[in-house]
Amino acid sequence: MSLPKVSVIGAGQVGATTAHLLALKGLADITLIDIVEGLAQGKALDLMHSAPVEAFAGRVVGTADFGALSGSRLVIITAGLARKPGMSRDDLLAANASIVGPIAERIASSAPQAAVIVVTNPLDVMVALALQRTGFPRQRVMGMAGVLDSARLRAVVAMRLDVPPADVQAMILGSHGDLMVALRDSITVKGKPAAGMLPPGELDQLIERAKNGGAEIVSLLKTGSAFYAPASGVVEMASAILRNTHAVLPVCAALQGEYGLRDVCIGVPAQLGSPGIERVVEQPLSPQEREALASAARQVQEMIAKLPAAPTVGTR
Ligand code: NAI
Ligand code: 2OP
Repeated sequence: MSLPKVSVIGAGQVGATTAHLLALKGLADITLIDIVEGLAQGKALDLMHSAPVEAFAGRVVGTADFGALSGSRLVIITAGLARKPGMSRDDLLAANASIVGPIAERIASSAPQAAVIVVTNPLDVMVALALQRTGFPRQRVMGMAGVLDSARLRAVVAMRLDVPPADVQAMILGSHGDLMVALRDSITVKGKPAAGMLPPGELDQLIERAKNGGAEIVSLLKTGSAFYAPASGVVEMASAILRNTHAVLPVCAALQGEYGLRDVCIGVPAQLGSPGIERVVEQPLSPQEREALASAARQVQEMIAKLPAAPTVGTR
């Protein structure tokens, strides 16, 4: 059976873990690309060595040649710097823009029909940059953060209540940063509101812990940021696109009027399928949530305005 081709750019922690999950789930033939000669090749070969044991059929190849993007159905951008302790995601703006901008241009020339999932931080701004530089329609360029942030909230609620994590639902929208918007009413355990299962005030503490989950991991790891849960988030989105499931997930999408917002990329619920984003789902928000989303959007727009005019790191 032929599998769709997915290219993962950046063979670091998130990229390699994403490739691993894509292979284990039998979702794709995978091309892993990294600027560091030998890194993607080595990790791809290591993954292929696991294929007989794990019984996956997809081919995994590694390369430093961006020409290998050709024929990709989906491209996942994980290339770039990760946070170190004390850094915010926004501190990465200039350095990662100089990496993501040229990569987006290369995707446009080598894989003009691909859908693109951006992972590199600062996420919402990098999605806007990838959209600009690919020139692709907004349906085909999106970012992964909401699935991760929501999963963190689901996980901390499940750990506190000692229930199966998959029984907990929750949705975090907004930007992947300080202005995440957790929808309190979305936090349920087997459909029942989690707020009713906790002492007053504790749900707010869990929400704060989830919002700071990335920083908590950075301070523990000291040399990098999270990658297992981020890769799971990417692969959930990739699966919805490759298998055309029409799943509604929190996704960083370019808005043109939805939620009263325009010319900004921000986390909102979106239905994913073959084309990429099939539609942004406008669900009812409280006035406070709507204002919080608008405030996050203003912050992202301010950062988009700070994007450097020209890229400085080339690709080949
Ligand atoms: P990492 O440092 O382990 O891997 C990054 C890889 O990118 C390195 O192997 C590096 O050689 C490669 N790279 C750099 N420039 C490149 C270029 N021009 N072309 C191809 N490859 C290039 O970092 P990690 O942990 O994998 O994180 C990657 C990015 O993802 C970071 O910006 C991080 O902040 C972000 N991130 C975002 C998340 C989200 O929720 N959106 C979650 C986790 C990480
Ligand atoms: C995270 O949330 C660093 O954005 C990354 O773990």
